[in-house]
Amino acid sequence: MAVNYQDLGFSNTTEMFQQAMADGYAVPAYNFNNMEQLQAIINGCGQSGSPVIIQVSSGARKYANQTMLRYMGEGAVRMAEESGYKIPIALHLDHGDTFELCVSCIESGFSSVMIDGSSHSYEDNVALTAKVVDYAHQHDVSVEGELGVLAGIEDDVEAAKSIYTDPAQVEDFVEKTGVDSLAISIGTSHGAYKFKPEQCTRNEKGILVPPPLRFDILEEIERRIAGFPIVLHGSSSVLPEYVNIINENGGKLTAAVGIPEEQLRKAAKSAVCKINIDSDGRLVVTAMIRKVFAEKPAEFDPRKYLGPAREELTRMIIHKNEQVLGSAGRG
Ligand code: G3H
Ligand code: 13P
Ligand code: ZN
Repeated sequence: MAVNYQDLGFSNTTEMFQQAMADGYAVPAYNFNNMEQLQAIINGCGQSGSPVIIQVSSGARKYANQTMLRYMGEGAVRMAEESGYKIPIALHLDHGDTFELCVSCIESGFSSVMIDGSSHSYEDNVALTAKVVDYAHQHDVSVEGELGVLAGIEDDVEAAKSIYTDPAQVEDFVEKTGVDSLAISIGTSHGAYKFKPEQCTRNEKGILVPPPLRFDILEEIERRIAGFPIVLHGSSSVLPEYVNIINENGGKLTAAVGIPEEQLRKAAKSAVCKINIDSDGRLVVTAMIRKVFAEKPAEFDPRKYLGPAREELTRMIIHKNEQVLGSAGRG
């Protein structure tokens, strides 16, 4: 039986983005696959007073079971209420690739969906996105579309090179599809290896510094569709402190590099209203689990290593909301 997202206590993203645009910050969109990640997201956003988009990829649905995830989302709303957190929470499908998947999520109570038609031709992307918008808007659900291709893995489709968004296409795409927000490609990419070392320089601490994002493309897009909410995917910073903990405790992440936080802060002050972060959370969890295993090799109670991972993830999320997205205190 279909359920409506309002009945579950979720918010759609329309008002979230209007406020973010007016006040110059971005709403965080954190991915989750398990309970500890979701608890950390709700506690981190609740404690910093930030609106939040909790997002589910199709990979997450395969891993954790779609019904389980949807009830976890509902549980997150109840947990926030009981904890006294007065923050809007949107439940969002990340990188939906078919109309049917979007319909399934909308019918199960998602308040927002992404239809990622970026691997299709422009015309097919427009047609697929418009079809999803038509259905979603009948249920008051917001839709994110994508123009341009991010390097890395986009829902099983691996792109070797990014194709930056062509600003000349955005007005036509937004008008023809009726989307509520648009994910663009300006140099971010998915995962922990966003740039090759040879594309980077090294700072005084020896840390790899990637080339800057293409703010010129972002500005041109903002000029053409003024006031329209823009989304940045692939926006983890691959924080060196966690990469170091992983490598000091038996891991092997060599030449991992992300988007510097100052660049994301700058983007969040513009028309960028939603910033997607997944890999940074994965790195925190892996770092803390490896540390516990290295320091206490006799430990075998999952609560003893997932607990510290959850605590550190909560701290990292508060840091992001306060120092990077500017969303703290806006819930
Ligand atoms: O954009 C990709 C997200 O990080 C989700 O990744 O498809 O491995 O769940 P996943
Ligand atoms: P990261 O891999 O940079 O965290 O990007 C996540 C993302 O874009 C989810 O859609
Ligand atoms: Zn993404």
